[in-house]
Amino acid sequence: MCKVTVMVKDLSIRMKREVREWNLQIITTIVFFLSMASLVIVLGLFINNHVKKFLASEELYFPEPPASSSVCSNRSINLEDFIAPKDMLHWTSDKELFWLASMVPRISEFPYNHTRKVAFMFLCRGRLPLAPLWEMFFKGHEGLYSIYLHTSPEFSEEPPESSVFHKRRIPSKAVQWGKASMIDAERRLLANALLDFSNERFVLLSETCIPLFNFTTIYNYLIQSNLSFVGSFDDPRHIGRGRYNKRMFPTVSLSDWRKGNQWFEIHRKIAIEVVSDVKLYPVFNHHCKAPCYMDEHYLPTLVTKIYPAMNSNRSITWVDWSRGGSHPTKFLRKDVSEEFMNRIRYGFNCTYNGGLSNVCFLFARKFHPNTLEPLLRLAATLFGFDP
Ligand SMILES: *[C@@H]1O[C@H](CO)[C@@H](O)[C@H](O)[C@H]1NC(C)=O
Ligand SMILES: *[C@@H]1O[C@H](CO)[C@@H](O)[C@H](O)[C@H]1NC(C)=O
Ligand SMILES: *[C@@H]1O[C@H](CO)[C@@H](O)[C@H](O)[C@H]1NC(C)=O
Ligand SMILES: *[C@@H]1O[C@H](CO)[C@@H](O)[C@H](O)[C@H]1NC(C)=O
Ligand SMILES: *[C@@H]1O[C@H](CO)[C@@H](O)[C@H](O)[C@H]1NC(C)=O
Ligand SMILES: *[C@@H]1O[C@H](CO)[C@@H](O)[C@H](O)[C@H]1NC(C)=O
Repeated sequence: MCKVTVMVKDLSIRMKREVREWNLQIITTIVFFLSMASLVIVLGLFINNHVKKFLASEELYFPEPPASSSVCSNRSINLEDFIAPKDMLHWTSDKELFWLASMVPRISEFPYNHTRKVAFMFLCRGRLPLAPLWEMFFKGHEGLYSIYLHTSPEFSEEPPESSVFHKRRIPSKAVQWGKASMIDAERRLLANALLDFSNERFVLLSETCIPLFNFTTIYNYLIQSNLSFVGSFDDPRHIGRGRYNKRMFPTVSLSDWRKGNQWFEIHRKIAIEVVSDVKLYPVFNHHCKAPCYMDEHYLPTLVTKIYPAMNSNRSITWVDWSRGGSHPTKFLRKDVSEEFMNRIRYGFNCTYNGGLSNVCFLFARKFHPNTLEPLLRLAATLFGFDP
């Protein structure tokens, strides 16, 4: 028994000694390898440094890349390109476009030379039939206006580079009169125009519209106006209140319900509300079906609901309903005369910035393409245009 204990003790002492020796060996090996490794690293760095210096001195073989190729790391963004894109940007979805257009700067002072512009937004099917008159109208006023065209999606003709309409077509979709697709087109125009921060007034025009004054007069009238021009009134008849649908309540109540001419002029603040509206639009889209026409009710109701004090409630675009029927009068070549034009230009009374004015309309519509010739002939006397 005792012998066994001694043997075991002996064994354990020997084992401990062996383990100690073993440990020592491992540590020595590790220390050796570590010092070798650091030597290799130090040597590597040393050589690398030398080679680098050597290479750097040989610029002939390893030239520095030219400065222009390193612009990615030091690129200055031209603010003017960002805030006033010259080309139409092609957004894949209205959702993206409207979201971007709804952004509002919080710093009111502009960090660049800011010229206030009027956005002229044309809703047309194809080529503008009265384009030559408009070309004359815009000539010489570059920088004070922006043009946007919403056409049929299949229309792809591009006006020549010399035209003010060159590359002003926005990505368009099919439009049906009186339907939501008409409002979509108007919002698409507004959103594109809002991307240019210099645009402060937004006018919607049709392909049968003509200007009634020269550019300077129209620009000043709009830019200086405190109020927007959205036709809006409460029509108690069945063609007004009768088109209200009770299911629109409570988002839209009968007392909110308005009617008005589709051809609007609005301030930037209102334009932002129109592209940002996610409340009234779906309600109208669901419940304003024939004989309710969205283009006659949506905008007047929206504007009256959100900014009643910012609207003059009158349209800036004249149209003749005096002959009755469901369509306004269409003017032909024989109707156009200086006397007729001046009757539209000065023949009405209205308020403008709190005062009385006899200039109530800046545009007129339903002019047949064949009115172009007499209109061009009258342009010099009426607007001071060069014929
Ligand atoms: C960026 O480029 C400009 C001019 O090209 C230069 O003055 C400036 O020092 C560069 N900045 C940096 C961080 O490289
Ligand atoms: C803005 O324009 C005016 C006159 O056109 C010019 O004197 C001024 O230096 C411009 N300012 C900036 C920041 O470009
Ligand atoms: C336009 O209509 C709104 C709502 O009915 C009203 O609050 C506003 O005063 C009107 N504007 C003018 C200029 O009469
Ligand atoms: C406009 O007002 C003037 C003077 O206040 C008046 O003579 C004229 O008849 C009015 N015109 C219309 C179309 O009401
Ligand atoms: C229009 O706005 C200007 C400047 O903001 C102000 O002086 C003028 O009184 C306003 N006019 C009306 C009719 O509100
Ligand atoms: C523009 O029309 C106004 C009248 O509306 C006139 O006083 C002005 O002289 C015209 N401008 C030009 C350049 O003909």
